[in-house]
Amino acid sequence: MESFAYLPPFGGMFKKTSPFYAESYWYCMGGITFLMFVYLTLSGILLAWLGPFWWLTSPVGKAMKGSHYWAAQAFFFFLVLHLIRVWATGAFRGRRWLNWLLGSAVLLLGLGENLFGLLARGDWESQFVAMHSDDMLFVQPYFFSLFSPANFTASLAIHVAVIPVILFGLIMAHLTLVRLQGIARPL
Ligand code: HEM
Repeated sequence: MESFAYLPPFGGMFKKTSPFYAESYWYCMGGITFLMFVYLTLSGILLAWLGPFWWLTSPVGKAMKGSHYWAAQAFFFFLVLHLIRVWATGAFRGRRWLNWLLGSAVLLLGLGENLFGLLARGDWESQFVAMHSDDMLFVQPYFFSLFSPANFTASLAIHVAVIPVILFGLIMAHLTLVRLQGIARPL
């Protein structure tokens, strides 16, 4: 596979060439996951900016909400393929254990972000889930005093302004480590 990174005007921009064993679609899965994260951020900013009334009623808003949802599905799809590639080529060994750990944190936090996204959607299904999880958490006084799933504003704030910021930091640290350590030789 010829990488676009070697062709003008991109050639030389990355100041690094990838090793021959990384010239495979399997090694693109992390990059595609990152592209999904970028799209989720941009569409998410637009959704949060124009608000729930827009994304629940206007045709363009509904389409944007739908594309945000499907980008989230694609994010997890490519993330799991990336995980399989890293595991199958043994790329988690040695000093790369730290990047494996960072990746695991991204995966777990991403699943949390997904849950808060469901609570923050505000449509009927979202309200149904919010009320039922509220009922369930109500019998767990400690957690209930921390957070109530039926609190739409809190769910939206966590989904928009708390978890994505942490995710962004973790992903940047992950990519920096890949740059510093290079791509592992396969087993
Ligand atoms: C938002 C999620 C993630 C993004 C954007 C991401 C991105 C990347 C990218 C671009 C690379 C370079 C090589 C490649 O793409 O195959 C990479 C390598 C790596 N990733 Fe991820 N990753 C994510 C999640 C994970 C997860 C869940 C794990 C494991 C639990 C993980 C573990 C690793 C390891 C160990 C490497 C080094 C592989 C090597 O040196 O060959 N990553 N990641």
